[in-house]
Amino acid sequence: MHQVLHTAWCVPGWVEALLALACFLSLHYFRQRKEPVIDWPILHHLPALLIHLPHVHDWTTSMHSAIGPTIPILGPIFSNMDRIITCDPQNLEYMLKTRFSNFPKGKLFHDMFEEFLGDGIFNIDGDAWEAQRRTANSHVHSKGFRSFVAATSRGLANDRLVPLLRKFATEGAAIDLQEIMMRYTMDTACAAVFGESVGCLSEGLPNVPFANAINDAMQAVTVRHVLPTAWWRAIRWLGLGMEPRLERAVRTMDEFVAQQVARRRHVSSGRGGGDLLSVYAATKASKTDRYLRDVAVNFLLAGRDTTGAALTWFFWLVSTHQNIEAKIIEELKAKGTDDHRELVYLHAALCETIRLYPSVPLDHKCALEEDILPDGTILKSETMVHYSIYAMGRMEWLWGKDCLEFRPERWLGEDGRLKGEGGFRFLAFNGGPRTCVGRDLAFVQMKYAASAVLSAFQLELVKGHRVSPKTSVILVMKKGLMVRVKEREGSW
Ligand code: HEM
Repeated sequence: MHQVLHTAWCVPGWVEALLALACFLSLHYFRQRKEPVIDWPILHHLPALLIHLPHVHDWTTSMHSAIGPTIPILGPIFSNMDRIITCDPQNLEYMLKTRFSNFPKGKLFHDMFEEFLGDGIFNIDGDAWEAQRRTANSHVHSKGFRSFVAATSRGLANDRLVPLLRKFATEGAAIDLQEIMMRYTMDTACAAVFGESVGCLSEGLPNVPFANAINDAMQAVTVRHVLPTAWWRAIRWLGLGMEPRLERAVRTMDEFVAQQVARRRHVSSGRGGGDLLSVYAATKASKTDRYLRDVAVNFLLAGRDTTGAALTWFFWLVSTHQNIEAKIIEELKAKGTDDHRELVYLHAALCETIRLYPSVPLDHKCALEEDILPDGTILKSETMVHYSIYAMGRMEWLWGKDCLEFRPERWLGEDGRLKGEGGFRFLAFNGGPRTCVGRDLAFVQMKYAASAVLSAFQLELVKGHRVSPKTSVILVMKKGLMVRVKEREGSW
């Protein structure tokens, strides 16, 4: 009898071990649950990263507010994924400028973006980067190219965007303004890269497979960011998760660029400024089609998505802040829309938009050699340092108590002029030698679109539509920006 009872109540060893583990993990969880980030045995911060991935930018912001400007993030043991995340402007000035040569983007990230960005300017370091940067600088800042971009942006805004929105206004249809803005910037970017737009804003809104492909590629690469390198490589090898989509997306991008390059060979731009691809094609490095493909994809990503995302957030912020909309309209009425340099308040509102919603929300550098950051953080060689540009724009100690408010005035001096752009606490265009090449162009494109749209229309958010950022390399809206467009009363 005793023997029978004993056998009936005997629990197998593995169940006991599982129960013990469950108890240990629960206790661990309850002890740490109030911490901003739970440090698990073996996996360390990886579960937290994965759980918070859908709202990673707000999570990073709350961690910086709770813990401090510089935080170590630990990957699973043996994964070589330990990282540092900082939002301290002194550290950033040190990495991006003072010790620039010790902080490249690094091989790990080159590999992560390789199929997508190849050896384009965003994804390379050292001499190859310097050569591409030199070509970009000399061309993008030339007078001819600047006036070509200004003329195409203005033409696309007035002759394509406004008539399209007028049609939607007449129909009273709800539209996704994010999609329309991405179409506008796809056309402006194609004009800059290939010499002419590709008609994304034409009637009937043609399908643009390239645009969907870029979105898919960005999402797949975002997932790679939060996994140990060996893991995402294995997932790629097995063809799981987002990887097959990335492969398809890259094929679509390659086909699109190949078509445009072939077309370019037959048509001379004849537009005075010349297009970027022709300029790169004339350099020594341009021996292969692959090189030109990488140049084109990098500049299209740089020019389309960043500016399109910034414009979308701008229109959302303006349509939810009537006092600011009124000030922009007042300026447009007083100064007209012809000379974008006159539109100082609009410029400030755009800066304020990308302070809160930077198109590139998260960036990274990799320490080549051991180093010490100005705040005393010790970096071993090969340490990856991330910086959340999104979190930086939301730190009270950097921007004051009203840091979360949309207040363009913070960019203006008492004389009403622009104050300058905030040094290393404002990294929406990055800083140091790798500062955005297209910053001035971006403002020109954004100002023409913003002034053309706001002087003709009012935007009304569709009731119940919730706006939130998507987790991706570029800060787009998760579900787009659903609005109804109305002709502006008293439009002049
Ligand atoms: C609102 C619009 C824009 C924003 C917020 C923006 C932001 C940025 C940021 C943060 C970087 C640094 C990225 C990194 O190193 O990881 C960057 C680099 C770059 N941007 Fe922009 N950008 C904008 C528009 C443009 C446009 C219109 C162009 C077109 C010419 C452009 C061309 C580039 C290029 C070529 C780089 C690479 C610079 C380098 O690595 O040396 N950007 N941009």
